[in-house]
Amino acid sequence: MNKYLKVGIDKISLHVPRFYVDLVELAEKRNVDPNKWTLGIGQNRMAVNEANEDIVTMAANAAYKILTEDDKKEITQVIFATESGIDYSKAASTYIHELLDINKYAKSYEVKQACYSATAAIQIAKDHVSLRPEEKVLVVSADIAKYGPETGGEVTQGAGAIAMLISANPSILELSKDSLSTTVNSYDFWRPTYSEVPMVDGKFSTEIYIAIFIDLIEKYKEKYQGDLDRVENMLFHLPFSKMGKKALQSYQTYLADTEKSTEDVDQWLENYETSTKLTKEIGNLYTGSLYLSLLSQLIYGDLEEGEEIALFSYGSGSVAEIFTGKIVAGFKNILNENEVINALDQRQALDLDSYDNEYFKPTYTERQDKIFDSNGAKGFVLEKIEDDKRYYKFV
Ligand code: CAA
Repeated sequence: MNKYLKVGIDKISLHVPRFYVDLVELAEKRNVDPNKWTLGIGQNRMAVNEANEDIVTMAANAAYKILTEDDKKEITQVIFATESGIDYSKAASTYIHELLDINKYAKSYEVKQACYSATAAIQIAKDHVSLRPEEKVLVVSADIAKYGPETGGEVTQGAGAIAMLISANPSILELSKDSLSTTVNSYDFWRPTYSEVPMVDGKFSTEIYIAIFIDLIEKYKEKYQGDLDRVENMLFHLPFSKMGKKALQSYQTYLADTEKSTEDVDQWLENYETSTKLTKEIGNLYTGSLYLSLLSQLIYGDLEEGEEIALFSYGSGSVAEIFTGKIVAGFKNILNENEVINALDQRQALDLDSYDNEYFKPTYTERQDKIFDSNGAKGFVLEKIEDDKRYYKFV
């Protein structure tokens, strides 16, 4: 039976905030050897959001770039993947639905499982469209990765959104039916409801990420024998650009120790670097991070039309999934590469005093009516919070 049902990612777009923090400058301020952050962790810059920018504005700005009027009529679900929720009850997708003027008879909801949830959304969307090929699903993922000043995780912060339109006869990546998931209840990274920043056991988080990758890929190979033989690109959830490489190198050692061939991993390592280019400049997008690697590989990698790729999705806590897809002929014509490259080029460095004094002020912990300055931003911005309600506008 054909594992491809001609459903997958038809369009993909990125929204990156206008400001970034230069990590060499920050390392010097924090008395850390900059090489630790640029070479050891593999990060150059991290995106930081403004006060008028939250997960809703970032997701709306990402999706706005790709949706046509016909798409808006054909979308029947808007799924918002995030772990930076702004409300315990009301889904962030309800705002997106209105801001983007999506047809009234589409359902909207939020999904959560740390950095894994965008993959859950993609899989739900794939199944939905496979049954109803005339419908489309909008998946948005947006997060603000904020660990706090002078924490171990500070260098792995970031912010931004990825939007993807899932449809029949997709133009970018056809998703296969083959996938394998796992759940391992753990406390490597979590955020209790009272806290603006996550709790994290950094060392354990990298160890469990690697252990789950090795366990899952071995099980995947057992379940779908020969399925990865032609796969030359394995893409990763990248909390920082070195993470996937660490997983691949550990897997290489595991294979060598168990006297198995390392041929596939050698190839994945060779193709790995180009998938990290956007992460190095933006940082961790949490739910969107795997799809930032995909976008990076689509732009900078050497992907061939019709080739199969594999993706490893990881969300702390922990849930992971490996799945495969096929690059669609002509994908480069659909990608707006220049838009991504220009958005990165046009960013401004945030001065470190503003970063230290303003960026970490609590945002949602108490009731406060507030009007936000749009500060010259273009696109969707948060206008005000009044009576605990959020108001957005397009500028
Ligand atoms: N020059 C070059 N390299 C240097 C160096 C120097 N001067 N000093 C240190 N290094 C290297 C180290 O050798 C190490 O390399 P290896 O990993 O290859 O051994 C690397 O720099 C990092 O050093 P440390 O491990 O000592 O760094 P750390 O203690 O500061 O912690 C971290 C790193 C655990 C990633 C921390 O930043 C953190 O807790 N981040 C948040 C959690 C996280 O991102 N976890 C990832 C897995 S969980 C996940 O994926 C979900 C998610 O999105 C959060």
